[in-house]
Amino acid sequence: MTDQLSGQTAIVTGASSGNGRAIAKTFAEEGAAVVCADIIEDPREGGYEDKSELTTHDLIQENGGDAVFVECDVTDREQIRSAIDTAVDEFGQLDIMVNNAGIFTRLVDITETTQEEWHKTIEVNLTGVWNGTKEAVEQFVEQGNGGKVVNIASIGGLVGLQAEPAYSASKGGVVNFTRATALDCAPHEINVNAVCPGWISTAMTREYFDDDEFWEQLSESTPWPRLGVPQDVADACLILAGPYAEWITGHALTVDGGYTTR
Ligand SMILES: NC(=O)c1ccc[n+]([C@@H]2O[C@H](COP(=O)([O-])OP(=O)(O)OC[C@H]3O[C@@H](n4cnc5c(N)ncnc54)[C@H](O)[C@@H]3O)[C@@H](O)[C@H]2O)c1
Repeated sequence: MTDQLSGQTAIVTGASSGNGRAIAKTFAEEGAAVVCADIIEDPREGGYEDKSELTTHDLIQENGGDAVFVECDVTDREQIRSAIDTAVDEFGQLDIMVNNAGIFTRLVDITETTQEEWHKTIEVNLTGVWNGTKEAVEQFVEQGNGGKVVNIASIGGLVGLQAEPAYSASKGGVVNFTRATALDCAPHEINVNAVCPGWISTAMTREYFDDDEFWEQLSESTPWPRLGVPQDVADACLILAGPYAEWITGHALTVDGGYTTR
């Protein structure tokens, strides 16, 4: 622990489970006050969380950190605005916005995927990031002292992944939205970056990690001798939200144990 985020306030969307929970916990350990924003308060069933009986904000408080929960659906901009108002009311201002909330419907090819799956995936994964970034950047500009946005994309936003057409499209959108927004935000000293995780063990991927054949294939395609865990994503977010990233903007940081390097 190095208190890298001491005195800062962060919102993490999708903070109740998986990657978002690890990001919120890590940021709090580094001294940030965290607004945990999610549609549900408890961790999702089927995840790999430590102390899954505790909500993320309770876990943070148990460890001596500052955190509150706000119910927030990222597809609704008013609910994002209200999460920002909570950050300001409770902790003084907003410094960091992590747009992490996302969904993955199933592995399904273009012929079988439904229009409904397409719309839902784009709405949560891409419009949700738009909503969070737009509201946070407006807040940062009004505050006048910079800010950091970290968007959780995926390796599916960098390369084509088989049987993930809607998910890959949504995450590709997040990557290029991040780059474009970074240009608008640079004059305000607001950093906008993305993290692109490979396969990470969370409730989202549980059924695939539990499939021995799939797990074998994944392990063989991953150069690093283990698969990904939420802390890998949280550590990358800490780099991009912390004091050593001042001149890093518009970057998409791959966190995949080398999966996409070949
Ligand atoms: N797990 C992976 O392998 C992996 C890989 C690459 C990228 N990602 C991305 O990481 C992010 C987190 O995924 P995860 O694996 O932790 O999944 P998860 O399902 O474990 O957690 C997602 C959290 O987001 C919340 N959420 C869902 N829809 C929401 C909405 N509309 N508004 C607010 N909160 C909402 C859920 O309640 C849940 O708590 C997602 O953007 C996902 O696409 C995951």
